Amino acid sequence: MINDSLDDAASLITGRAVDVDAVLARLYDRPRWDRHLFYPVPRAGDFSALARFFALPWNNIGHRLGNPPGGNHTKPAERAVLAWAADLFFGLRTEGDWWGNVTTGGTGGNRAGLLAGRDTFAATAVGYYTDSDHYSIPKLMHELSIPAVAVRSRPDGEMDYDDLYDRLRPGAPAIVNITAGTTTTEAVSDPGKVSAVLDAAGITDRHLHCDAALSGIPLALDGLLETGPLHSLAASGHKFLGVRQPTGFVVGRRLAHRREQHIAYIDTIDDSPAGSIDGLPVLAMWYVVATLGDNGLRAWAHEARETAAYLRDQLVRLGVPAWRHPHAFTVVFPEPPARVLRDWPVYRDGNGGCHLVCMPGVTREGIDAFVAAMADALRAAAA
Ligand SMILES: Cc1ncc(COP(=O)(O)O)c(C=O)c1O
Repeated sequence: MINDSLDDAASLITGRAVDVDAVLARLYDRPRWDRHLFYPVPRAGDFSALARFFALPWNNIGHRLGNPPGGNHTKPAERAVLAWAADLFFGLRTEGDWWGNVTTGGTGGNRAGLLAGRDTFAATAVGYYTDSDHYSIPKLMHELSIPAVAVRSRPDGEMDYDDLYDRLRPGAPAIVNITAGTTTTEAVSDPGKVSAVLDAAGITDRHLHCDAALSGIPLALDGLLETGPLHSLAASGHKFLGVRQPTGFVVGRRLAHRREQHIAYIDTIDDSPAGSIDGLPVLAMWYVVATLGDNGLRAWAHEARETAAYLRDQLVRLGVPAWRHPHAFTVVFPEPPARVLRDWPVYRDGNGGCHLVCMPGVTREGIDAFVAAMADALRAAAA
């Protein structure tokens, strides 16, 4: 598994003198940011105003409403981000009508949302997810001892609602993961349709969780995400919001039962999927929302979609059958020629497809460079 020459250089175990400066320089210089377009890597935003916070140990342990002892937390920023999210996704503004935590990323938020569903039904529920959901969803269901049923997705990545109906276990409460922005095609499944399928099957005991890691925030800002039937939603902070360190949040409607315990040691309530949690990226989420506001974030999303439309058009012009969902930053196309794969860190889906994600901050110049490489490679392959 380990194949990085830097591991040798960085090893402290052998007792050899280590050129620490050289290791740092090589690690720092290694990413080819201009070519790193195939994953939703954060690019937009300027967080330099937060640089002085980096040297200090910010720890947002515990419930959002608690202030752990010592003051070395960014809880006011956490409270503001979660209140913003509860309002954005659920229109809830009254304390007590919702719950929420900051997390280590999308997976942590999904874990808390699925756990809320499992706790609601005292472990009698069955979990449903689609084969286009993020790999963490079946893993989390396994970890949480939720019996998991895989539902087919359509070729464009959206849930196949007929297949969901066919696979429902009559009589068992349902925990359904609904993805808003699948990892490979950025497909968005429809909570209203899922709800209608559960109604048709007579399943009223349900917890609908939305894995909105990438697309939830931009869709909700444009009123394009149906959240009425949802009980909880998780999003990443290091995707659309541009925070450089992994982070995220989960919010949900008030639950009948939620495990919350006062802990003397941290002098606050523990209700969180994490223990210690870095307060710096939480502060960064607040910073980007506070400085840009909903309008600024919306502008990021619109620009990213325009860049994605531009990329799609350029590829189609080359004869590449590229496509995208109209809301998406992601452009899907067949795996490029070997020459492109050699020079660009292209994501491949293992089935002959790949995609490029036009995150906020990806420029047309960056896109043009990729399209030029594709054009060269296609010309060479044709010759
Ligand atoms: C749809 C989706 N959900 C969840 C995740 C997991 O997020 P994280 O890596 O922040 O835990 C990802 C990551 O790419 C994702 O694409």
